[in-house]
Amino acid sequence: MKTLLVAASEDSALWADLFRAELPGHDIRLAPPSAGETTTYLAIGTPPPGLIASLTGLELILSLNAGVDRLLASGEAPVDLPIVRLADDGLKLGMTEWVLATVMAWHRQLFAYRDDQAKGEWSPRPEALARERTSVVLGAGALGGPVALALAGVGFRTRAWSRSPRHIAGVTMFAGADGLAAALTGADILVNLLPLTRETEGLIDGSVLSRLAPGALFVNGGRGAQVIDGDLMAALDSGALGEAALDVFRQEPLPSDHPYWRHPKVRMSPHVAAPTHARTAVAVMAETVRRFERGEPVGPLVDRARGY
Ligand code: NDP
Ligand code: OXD
Repeated sequence: MKTLLVAASEDSALWADLFRAELPGHDIRLAPPSAGETTTYLAIGTPPPGLIASLTGLELILSLNAGVDRLLASGEAPVDLPIVRLADDGLKLGMTEWVLATVMAWHRQLFAYRDDQAKGEWSPRPEALARERTSVVLGAGALGGPVALALAGVGFRTRAWSRSPRHIAGVTMFAGADGLAAALTGADILVNLLPLTRETEGLIDGSVLSRLAPGALFVNGGRGAQVIDGDLMAALDSGALGEAALDVFRQEPLPSDHPYWRHPKVRMSPHVAAPTHARTAVAVMAETVRRFERGEPVGPLVDRARGY
């Protein structure tokens, strides 16, 4: 009987129950087996130091997250050990809901009216239609793709940018470093859903932000280290950028003295745009295990050279 070790930081009993229901012929553990026993599968987010090295017989890592930047940065996973990223409906629907809610609140000025209400002011403002605005999504993968489709679906003229050429119906696509400037130019809404890699770290700087339409919205659901924070604050302070909605930060939790906390044009959430949902995650992870055992291809596999 093959062993699967689940190292979830929350709800571990639920994870174990779900895995046991999906994989009845497997030994599902919440704690590492004792010496001499093998562990074939490890479902984990960021591995604690020494855990992976202590396991024998490990054949596959099932990431509990879509982003594997912290797992790779930990240096704990041997390079020849395959890692399957999490791509499931829970993440896809969660991220789509969060981006749509964030974009629509800005587009229809809900927070501005809320502020007016607090001041007792009746102040109608000019209202645009979605089709009069352009959105651009950086990253057109498991999350960026559905998000771009959803933005196009509510009417925004929508662009998306990826590393390799992609096709998404109703979305204008751009690819590669050469395509970035054209993807950004004149956009009213910038949504970042890129993985954190050597190439994307610090990508969103003053020059990227300066290509957007005046007063644009920046939405970050990717990773905090992709943003040059000083450039973002400068763009907000000068009025070049209208608002930033940030779910992810260079340091999490964000230190209490960070200027984002009190910036009037920054809206923050504590890395909750698309949390992992055990039910949807276990369904796809169990299917990965079944495919792996039948000798079928599994994925999405992390490409160590690309970093995602
Ligand atoms: P995918 O790997 O499915 O998609 C990544 C996309 O980014 C792909 O389209 C890829 O291009 C593109 N990309 C990568 N590198 C570059 C580059 N250098 N230039 C241009 N495009 C690039 O990832 P997901 O969509 O599943 O997840 C994206 C990220 O979202 C995660 O890595 C994580 O950081 C973040 N995330 C945040 C959450 C939150 O709660 N805030 C929750 C879940 C994820 P190509 O298509 O050519 O490969
Ligand atoms: C993820 C995340 O990558 O939670 O899944 O950010």
